[in-house]
Amino acid sequence: MAGSASIPYHRIASFRRTVLGFYAQHGRKLPWRVTKDPYRITVSEIMLQQTQVERVIPKFEAWIALWPDWRTLSTASTRELLHAWSGLGYNRRALMLGKLAKAIMEKHHGKLPRQPEVLEELPGIGPYTSRAILIFAFNQDIATIDTNIRRVLLHQFDLPPTTTKEQLESLAQRLVPKGRSRDWHNGLMDYSRLALPRRLPRIPPVSKQGRFEGSARQVRGEVIRQLLKQKTVDIFWLAGRIKRDKAEVLKIAKSMAREGVVRLKGRTITLAE
Ligand code: ADE
Repeated sequence: MAGSASIPYHRIASFRRTVLGFYAQHGRKLPWRVTKDPYRITVSEIMLQQTQVERVIPKFEAWIALWPDWRTLSTASTRELLHAWSGLGYNRRALMLGKLAKAIMEKHHGKLPRQPEVLEELPGIGPYTSRAILIFAFNQDIATIDTNIRRVLLHQFDLPPTTTKEQLESLAQRLVPKGRSRDWHNGLMDYSRLALPRRLPRIPPVSKQGRFEGSARQVRGEVIRQLLKQKTVDIFWLAGRIKRDKAEVLKIAKSMAREGVVRLKGRTITLAE
């Protein structure tokens, strides 16, 4: 099938009415939706990347109370960042936010840039996030596609699983109602989560994370949890404690050190500074 050009305009217009109508009636009032502050929007988007909305809400509010802007965040230590992040998982994101705050203070006079290409050069910001920020903070008439939006589009327009990224992007862009991009994207996300069944025919479910128990994620989480309690941790002790293979834990610790989350000296780990 060709791109979105083959979808008649009346189907586009009707879908816009459905989604915007649904959002007006049933849209979730989330803490990052009552603000246009690019800082708050960015924090929420990074938190939401791999964590469910319900778990993000209290962590987001606590984070904003601790660090209300880029300037205050840029002074946070690794320990403080990881402590505020605990429970969200994928801890690298916390350090990335700290680095991002420093880069914005040092290179952009404390203001988040508004050009996608410039945004994407900053730590932790990829194409999805840069677009989401421009949409939710500045209501720019551009489109972004996360897993929720992708499933709505495939379902609504009965697109084959072979639909390319480019075809989907062109459709997503054509759909954006001018001047309503913020509501539109919030509406699409809510429509996907609340109005559509969790399982749709032919469409893979929204990315389910693998089992936590026995995963590398579990080891990473435990390393950080222990390092927030004590300055140094012996990885072989930790392996015994969580009943995991020593070599495996060592390998995971090494990858955390490469990412700059921890420091590893022999079998002793400390938090990176
Ligand atoms: N996931 C990513 N961004 C979101 C948002 N703004 N609202 C709800 N879920 C999201």
